[in-house]
Amino acid sequence: MERVDYIVIGSGIAGLRATLELVGHGEIVVLTKERVTQSSTEYAQGGVAVVMSDDDDISLHYEDTLRAGAGLCDPDPVKVLVEEGPTYIEELIGWGARFDRVGDQLELGQEAAHSRRRILHARGDSTGREIVRTMLGRLRRVDGVQVRQHALSLQLLTDDRRCLGVRYVDTITGECHAMVARAVILATGGAGQVFAQTTNPDVATGDGIAMAYRAGALVADMEFVQFHPTALNLPGAPRFLLSEAMRGEGGRLRNSRGEAFMPRYHPRAEMAPRDVVARAIISEMERTGTATVFLDVRHLGASFLKRRFPRIYRTCLKYNLDIARDLIPVSPAAHYIMGGVRTDVFGRTSIPGLYAAGEVACSGIHGANRLASNSLLEGLVFGARAAQAAKEDGWERPSLGRLAHRCDERASWRVPDQIVQRVREAMWQKVGLIRSGRELQQALALLEGLDSPASDDVTRNFLTVAQLIARAALFRRESRGSHYRTDYPHRDDERWLVHSGQQRGRSPFPIPVGDVFPEAGGDISQVMGRTDS
Ligand code: FAD
Ligand code: SIN
Repeated sequence: MERVDYIVIGSGIAGLRATLELVGHGEIVVLTKERVTQSSTEYAQGGVAVVMSDDDDISLHYEDTLRAGAGLCDPDPVKVLVEEGPTYIEELIGWGARFDRVGDQLELGQEAAHSRRRILHARGDSTGREIVRTMLGRLRRVDGVQVRQHALSLQLLTDDRRCLGVRYVDTITGECHAMVARAVILATGGAGQVFAQTTNPDVATGDGIAMAYRAGALVADMEFVQFHPTALNLPGAPRFLLSEAMRGEGGRLRNSRGEAFMPRYHPRAEMAPRDVVARAIISEMERTGTATVFLDVRHLGASFLKRRFPRIYRTCLKYNLDIARDLIPVSPAAHYIMGGVRTDVFGRTSIPGLYAAGEVACSGIHGANRLASNSLLEGLVFGARAAQAAKEDGWERPSLGRLAHRCDERASWRVPDQIVQRVREAMWQKVGLIRSGRELQQALALLEGLDSPASDDVTRNFLTVAQLIARAALFRRESRGSHYRTDYPHRDDERWLVHSGQQRGRSPFPIPVGDVFPEAGGDISQVMGRTDS
C-alpha cells in the first residue's frame, strides 16, 4: 500500500494534460495499462478543432457543436471548450507542438458538420502522436511524477465519504497493489473494444467508466456511441481509420457499382454528420448486397495524398493498397463514446475526490453526437481543469490503515477470450449502428448471463460497460444523433430531450439537459409526465 498526493489513471491527452497541471503539487503517479504511448490519442489522425483564424468565430464553433449534439449538449461545458480551447492550444504550441503550416500560418483542415475550416493537424495525419510527443517531452523535464506502465487499474477504493485511491495489477509480474491519494483523476479513454468492429486500440475497454459506476458514480448517455463511417475493411487488416479529413479534402464514397451515393442521402453529401454517413453506408451495402463501400481519393493525386495523409498512405501500402490508384474498401466501426462518468465543468464526478476527463467523462459537451475533432480539444481543456479542481478542493491524504485489508496479493487481468468474443459480437450485432428493442433485450440477457459475482474485476469491468451501453440504448425509446432504433425511428423532443443516467442499484433515469447531478432521478414519468409501455 502506498500513499501519494495525486493519482492519474491513463496517459492519453486528458491524463497527460492533467498530470502537467499537477506538477509542483506533491507526488503524482500516473498509472497506465500498457506502454505510455498506447492510447486513442496516439492514433488520432484528423486533428484538433479550434478557432484560430480571422475567418472563424468562437460562436460558430459553439453552434456547430450544439447542432451536431442533436439537442443534448449542455451549454456550459461547450462554452468552456470553445472559449478556452485556443489558449490551451497556444500553450501546446509554446511547449513545442508542431502543427502543420502553410508559410507561417497554421494550415486548417475541413471536417464534417463544421461551418469553417478549423482543424489543426500535425505531420498530415499524425496529430495525436505529435501531441503525445510534446507532452511526454515536457513531462520528462519535470520532477515529482512517476509514470507506471503496465499498471492496470481494477477498482476504485472508496469509503462512505469519498474516493481514496485505487487497486491495480502490474501486468508484468501479476502482483496486485493499492495506492491512496488526495484525489484520483480518471482519464482512461473510451470503450470501442466492447464492439467487434472498432477503430480503437486494445486499451480502450471502458475500464474507467465501469470502475466509477461500480464505486457508485453517476454515469450518463451511454447509449450514444459514435460509429466512424470509414474504417479500412480488408480481410486480414486491422480496422485502421481512414480520416474524415480525406472526405474534407474531396474524397468521395462509392458503392460497389461505382456510384457516388451520398448526395442521395444528405444535402452536404460526404460532409454530412457522421451518423448520417455511417447509416447511409449500411443502407448502400444492403441495397447492393455487399459488405463494403469504397472511399475514392484517387483524384486528389499521389503527391497531395503523400504529403497530407502520409501515415494513411504508408499503412494502406502495407496491405497492397495504393490509395492514389486504388479504391479503399471501408465500412463503419465503433469509434467514440459520448457517454461516460458524469462530470461538472471542472471534471468533478458525483463521488467526492474522484475526477474524470477526456473520453471517459460525460461533461455534456457532445450530446448525442460528437462534432469531429472536438475530443482532443476536450481532453486538453478538461484534463487541465480537472487537475485544477483536484488541487483547489484541498483533500487530505487518507491514512493507510483504513484500507490495508483491501489488497489481495495477486489479481487476474485478462478477460477470458470466450467472453470477449461473445460480448463483442453481441454488441456489434445487437447494440450497434441500427438497434431495436428486441435485439437490445437479447443482448442484455446475454451480457447479464455472462456476469457472475465470482468474476474477477477485469471481466466485471468489461461486462459492466457493455451492459451500461445496452441498458441505456433500451431505455431511450427514440432515435437521436448516433442512437438509432428501428422500433422508434424518430426523434422525440417532447419526451426524450434528456440525458440518460445510470447509477448502481437504480434503473436508468432521465437527467434534464444542463442538470449535472440531479438530486433525485426517477422514472421517466416523473420528468415527462407519462410512461411508454
Ligand atoms: P486515451 O487517449 O484513449 O487514453 C486512455 C489511457 O488510459 C490510455 O493510456 C490507456 O492505456 C489508459 N487506460 C485505460 N484503461 C486503464 C486501466 N484500467 N488502468 C490504467 N490505464 C488505463 N479525436 C479528435 O479530436 N481528433 C481526431 O483526429 C481523432 N482521431 C481519432 C482516430 C482514432 C483511430 C481514434 C481511435 C480516435 C480518434 N479520435 C480523434 C478520438 C480521440 O483520439 C480520443 O477521444 C481521445 O484521444 C481520448 O483521449 P483520452 O485521454 O480521454 O483517452
Ligand atoms: C478522423 O480523423 O476522422 C477522426 C476525427 C475524430 O474522431 O474526431
